[in-house]
Amino acid sequence: MLNVALPKGRLGEKVYAMFEAAGYECPSIKENNRKLIFENEERGVRYFWVKPSDVAIYVERGAADIGVAGKDILLEYAPDVYELLDLNLGKCRMAVAAPNEFHDDGQKTLKVATKFTNIAADYYASLGREIDIIKLNGSIEIAPILKLSDVIVDIVETGTTLKENNLEVKSEIVPISARLIANKSSFKFKGDDIEKIVESIKKQVQAND
Ligand code: PRP
Repeated sequence: MLNVALPKGRLGEKVYAMFEAAGYECPSIKENNRKLIFENEERGVRYFWVKPSDVAIYVERGAADIGVAGKDILLEYAPDVYELLDLNLGKCRMAVAAPNEFHDDGQKTLKVATKFTNIAADYYASLGREIDIIKLNGSIEIAPILKLSDVIVDIVETGTTLKENNLEVKSEIVPISARLIANKSSFKFKGDDIEKIVESIKKQVQAND
């Protein structure tokens, strides 16, 4: 049985649809209930829904053999897993944003609010820019409006949240999308099953293109 950790929510539904189209369906997953684990013995798969930011932890520790996690989480937490495939889903970007009128003159330490402290630290270190990181857990866009920070480092998808709060992208850090990841020892011991699933899903990714 291959244990698959799926990210709960809108992205997870698209991801499951891809697994289903690839021949790894599990009809009970569509029943409208609060169950979190679903199994299709015949297909040899067991799915479970976890918080998107927790998928990599399940996979890293082997509770799941494979899973789907955002590149943002992989960059931020650097879990010890194999990244097997870009699913081309959940596409967005990690960016620096600030109020429209803000211009960084580089004079004083830049105050950066973010959930992604490692990504922000690495980015500004690569520019040699001194920063003061303020770790927040959500609604990051409020920080520069209330002068808690000068800029934010956050995910931008449609750009609507920024626009509606009079903020704009000042620079792009990295493109983000959903990635298929595998536990390292599962990849060794269940390698054939994992390879098979990766090949079928690769075809779905190409078909979606
Ligand atoms: C994310 C991100 C932005 C928003 C960007 O937040 O942090 O706030 O989506 O999307 P947009 O460009 O399409 O407007 P999420 O909804 O995940 O909630 P969060 O505030 O808890 O991070």
